[in-house]
Amino acid sequence: MSLQDKDRIFTNVHGFQPWNLKAAQHRGDWDKTKKLLEIGADEIIERIKASGLRGRGGAGFPTGMKWSFMPKTPSPERPNFLVINADESEPGSCKDREIIRHDPHKLIEGALVAGFAMRARAAYIYIRGEFIYEAKVLEAAVAEAYAAGLIGKNACKSGYDFDVFVHRGAGAYICGEETAMIESLEGKKGQPRLKPPFPAGAGLYGCPTTVNNVESISVTPTILRRGPEWFSSFGNPNNAGTKLFQISGHVNTPCVVEEAMSIPFRELIEKHAGGIRGGWDNLLAVIPGGSSVPLVPAAQIMDAPMDFDGLKALGSGLGTAAVIVMDKSTDIVRAISRLSYFYKHESCGQCTPCREGTGWMWRVMERLREGHADVSEIDTLFEVTKQVEGHTICALGDAAAWPIQGLIRHFRPEIERRIANANGGEMLEAAE
Ligand code: NAI
Ligand code: SF4
Repeated sequence: MSLQDKDRIFTNVHGFQPWNLKAAQHRGDWDKTKKLLEIGADEIIERIKASGLRGRGGAGFPTGMKWSFMPKTPSPERPNFLVINADESEPGSCKDREIIRHDPHKLIEGALVAGFAMRARAAYIYIRGEFIYEAKVLEAAVAEAYAAGLIGKNACKSGYDFDVFVHRGAGAYICGEETAMIESLEGKKGQPRLKPPFPAGAGLYGCPTTVNNVESISVTPTILRRGPEWFSSFGNPNNAGTKLFQISGHVNTPCVVEEAMSIPFRELIEKHAGGIRGGWDNLLAVIPGGSSVPLVPAAQIMDAPMDFDGLKALGSGLGTAAVIVMDKSTDIVRAISRLSYFYKHESCGQCTPCREGTGWMWRVMERLREGHADVSEIDTLFEVTKQVEGHTICALGDAAAWPIQGLIRHFRPEIERRIANANGGEMLEAAE
C-alpha cells in the first residue's frame, strides 16, 4: 500500500511551515504528551514492539526490543541514558537533517517519550558538526521546550524529570558508530569499542545507554497516538511502518519523502522523483540504502520492495533508505573507487584489517579505474574484501568491503573492458 497525505508522520519535512513550538503544536506535536506517559513505561515498550518499528539509522534492529534491554530500576549512581544519533554522515543520507531543520519538536517529544519508557535520566543528542544551522534550530527548540515546561523538571507535569542536551560533533564519520559516539561524548577520541558489552549493559560513563537514530525516536509519539496497529499496517511483515526515503542522483526530481515501507522501487521513483533521467531504459544501477550497502543493477531492482528483507534478498540492504540512482552516463568504477577513498579516509585506524585494508582496496580500485591493472587483480581485490568483512571492530570495515563486492559481482565485464582498453585490447594476466 502506498502512503496518502493523511498517513504521513513528518508533516513538515519540506519546511512549508515554521519549525517553532507554536507551529509544531498546531501540527499535533506535544498534544497531551502527559497522557502518552501515563500509558506507563513497560506498556510503551510493548506498544513500540507491537508496531514493528525497526531502527531507522541503517541496521534495522527492533526498536522496542532494544529499549527492553535497559534496566527497569536504575540506581542514582548508575542512571540510564538515551543517546540520539544525529551524526548523519552516510553518503546519500539526508533525512535526519530535514527532521531537525523543519520538525525538531517531533524529535524532542520523542526523546521524552523514549527516555521515559527506558527510565532515562537524560537524552544527549549528538549532532553532526557540519550541521551548523540545524544545531542552532535544535538548541532553540530545546530551549522552547524547557521554557514551556515540556522537558526538564516535572516534564509535562508528569512528575518525571528529564533533561535534553545537544552535543555537536567535530566532523568524524566514525563518531556515528554508536560506541565511538559514546567515547566522543565522554570527551575522548571517537573510536568504536568492542561489542559486547552492548551500550545497554555499559554505555555512556559506563551506565546503561540506548543509542537510537533521530528518525526512530521522532516517530514514536505518533505511533503511540495512532496505535501500533496503524503503524504496522504499512509495509510487508517484519518491515513495518512508514519511512523517509532520500532519493538522489539521476532522477528528474531528487527529494526526501515519507512513504510506506516495501513500496516497489519503480513506484517510489515514478511517484516522487519524476522518473529516471532519460527514461527507465537509461537506468544503470542503484545504491538503495546509503553508501554502505552494495549496488543493485537496474534489472534486479525495478520491482523490488524497498525494505530490509526485500533488498537483503538482492544481496543489498535498506540501510538508511538513501536511494542513490545512477544512469548509464555514470562511470561506475570511478564512483565506487571514490567511495573506497571515503572509507579509507574515515577509518579510525585502530584495527589492522580496516586501517590497512581500506587503503589497499582504494589503491587497487584506482588502478582498475585507470585500467592499469591485470585481470587477476579483480579476484585478489574480491578476496581482500572478504578478509576485511567481518574481521573488524565496527561496521566500517564491512561498509568499505561491500560496495566493491557489489561492483565486482555485477560489473566485472566493465572492469575487464577498461583493463583491455588500457592495454590496447589485450587482457593481461599476471606474470607467474
Ligand atoms: P549493529 O547491527 O551492530 O547494531 C544495531 C543496533 O542494535 C545497535 O544499537 C546495537 O547496540 C544493537 N544490538 C545489536 N545486537 C545486539 C544484541 N545482541 N544485544 C543488544 N543490542 C544489540 O549495527 P551498527 O553498527 O549500529 O550500524 C550499522 C549500520 O549503520 C549500517 O548498516 C549502515 O547502514 C548504518 N550507517 C548509518 C549511518 C548514518 O549516517 N545514518 C552512517 C554509517 C552507517
Ligand atoms: Fe576503526 Fe575501521 Fe576498526 Fe571501525 S573497523 S574500529 S573504523 S579501524
